[in-house]
Amino acid sequence: MTEFVPWVEKYRPKRLNDIIGHEKVVANLKRYAADKSMPHLLFAGRAGIGKTCAALALANELYGDQRRQCFLELNASDERGIDVMRSREQQKDAARKANTTSVKDFARTRPMADVAFKIVFLDEADALTPDAQHALRRTMELYSSTTRFILSCNYSSKIIEPIQSRCAVFRFKALTDEDVKKIIERIIKGEGLEIADDEAMDALIYVADGDARRVINSLQAVATLTKKITAENIYSVASRARPKEVRAMVEAAFKGDFMKAREALDDLMIRYGLSGNDLLKQIYREVTSLDVPDDKKVFLVDRVGEYDFRMSEGANERIQLEALLAQIMLAGRS
Ligand SMILES: Nc1ncnc2c1ncn2[C@@H]1O[C@H](COP(=O)(O)OP(=O)(O)OP(=O)(O)O)[C@@H](O)[C@H]1O
Ligand SMILES: [Mg+2]
Repeated sequence: MTEFVPWVEKYRPKRLNDIIGHEKVVANLKRYAADKSMPHLLFAGRAGIGKTCAALALANELYGDQRRQCFLELNASDERGIDVMRSREQQKDAARKANTTSVKDFARTRPMADVAFKIVFLDEADALTPDAQHALRRTMELYSSTTRFILSCNYSSKIIEPIQSRCAVFRFKALTDEDVKKIIERIIKGEGLEIADDEAMDALIYVADGDARRVINSLQAVATLTKKITAENIYSVASRARPKEVRAMVEAAFKGDFMKAREALDDLMIRYGLSGNDLLKQIYREVTSLDVPDDKKVFLVDRVGEYDFRMSEGANERIQLEALLAQIMLAGRS
């Protein structure tokens, strides 16, 4: 049996040139690689768009096959990540126990390659508490002669100002549908898959919603069943309903046909096994693209927000969704 390799790893861009989109960011990183010199970096942007890829590709450019000695990847939410913030003694202790490298051990030795610094990549930096971030800031300073930090986060606003001001901040924009398509096509080709029709490609792009990781994982899940990718399969593994069915439900409610909307809701929840939250996200996408006057849209978005909050507080999903449909109907009437 062949070993299971997640496609998100298998198709992770090795070089900066393989990264799709993010042209400006990539151009800057290429310059750092060429100069073999860089400041601390802060990567910010939503999930699954290539921040980790960019850090790894930069490290590949800088260190080539010595990357392993010169690039330390930490996750702020796991043990080792927390080491960064511990006192030296605690760090040593924990590292010995966990048999991992602490930042200190890593940064103490000079890099072997012809680059004057090593890189510590800290993923999910925004998961660190402000206190931990202050400690991290000191760590960054302590080792700044031999080490550069690359911090990655979803929200740069959660990173304390003193760290932000020590870093060159790169904001990764959401991937466009075109970018996502290119990434999908790379995998289709690499794995010898077949896209059944245009609808299947549209489904992939819809499910991705700008997140390459999500669509790659969905593709891999479908591919374990069949090499022929259909829209049906994609929606089902990604637990998404067909967008046009969701739209039909929203439109029925808006036009005042409450019973029809309610039946559609039943159908969607049972047939696709969708959770209330998944469905609410899809309703949100349809509401924002509805062809109705702006003031109605504003009202509807506000309502979706309200029901999203209620569900996050644990209210009954079925009842909340039905109540939301009632609200959509009221908006259609007034
Ligand atoms: N711009 C891109 N070009 C090519 N492949 C990409 C790109 N963005 C993402 N991918 C693919 O998606 C996977 C996930 O990307 P990556 O790990 O870089 O996301 P991330 O931005 O670090 O997300 P997170 O915030 O969740 O850490 C990668 O392994 C790669 O296969
Ligand atoms: Mg990442």
